Amino acid sequence: MKYIIKLSGSLFDGEENLINLEKILHEIENAVSEGNRVGIVVGGGMRARELINIGRAFNLSEFELDEIGIAITRINAMILIGALHGLAYPRVITNFEDAAIAWNEEKIPVMGGLTPGHSTNAVAALLAEYVKADLLINVTRAGGVFNKDPAKYPDALKYERISIDDLKKVLNSSFQAGKYELMDQVALGVIERSRIRTQIIGADAESLRKALKGERSGTYIVFE
Ligand code: UTP
Repeated sequence: MKYIIKLSGSLFDGEENLINLEKILHEIENAVSEGNRVGIVVGGGMRARELINIGRAFNLSEFELDEIGIAITRINAMILIGALHGLAYPRVITNFEDAAIAWNEEKIPVMGGLTPGHSTNAVAALLAEYVKADLLINVTRAGGVFNKDPAKYPDALKYERISIDDLKKVLNSSFQAGKYELMDQVALGVIERSRIRTQIIGADAESLRKALKGERSGTYIVFE
């Protein structure tokens, strides 16, 4: 099976997440050792948001702020490459041609952001489209798609499945740097046009293990 795994940048927020991240990488290593193909895209997390906010205070353009976000995602990618013990292509992938080279060499392409105007979810969706992935696994802090913001509303309900049209309604994406919600419009558009099988799961090893075994976890995007 071919998997593209989008790792939330929040996995890099604070040292208390380290063991969790380690366990998640272990699941990825297991999947590879079982013969599966994997590509990874990682977000920027708290650091990206903090630095973007500082830049915004100095009136940088949204383009410049996005570039700051991208730089941080690539630092996270560097850490993942080192942590994957030679399973990953040794350079952070910054274009799809290099992703193809890594893929053909049977190494894990590890990407952060690419260009201003969208989030790493869009990069992950494009990579999944490019390599014709069997499943795009979106590892998120939220753990799935809810009918309202679970951080604000404890009675929020998690969807087991959601149609792409309903997802568009639920997501109220903001197009400001550092303020993307669960998924941005670019990511949604790519997932929709290629009907990419997508599972949005929690940021823990157990959820990832289930997703990699084809078991139910989080929310599936469906297309009917
Ligand atoms: P993300 O928004 O994708 O990372 O990228 P995050 O905040 O960690 O989100 P999750 O938890 O992984 O979903 C951080 C910032 O980098 C810029 C945007 O400003 C984005 O908010 N970015 C990222 C781009 O401009 N282009 C990209 O291709 C990726």
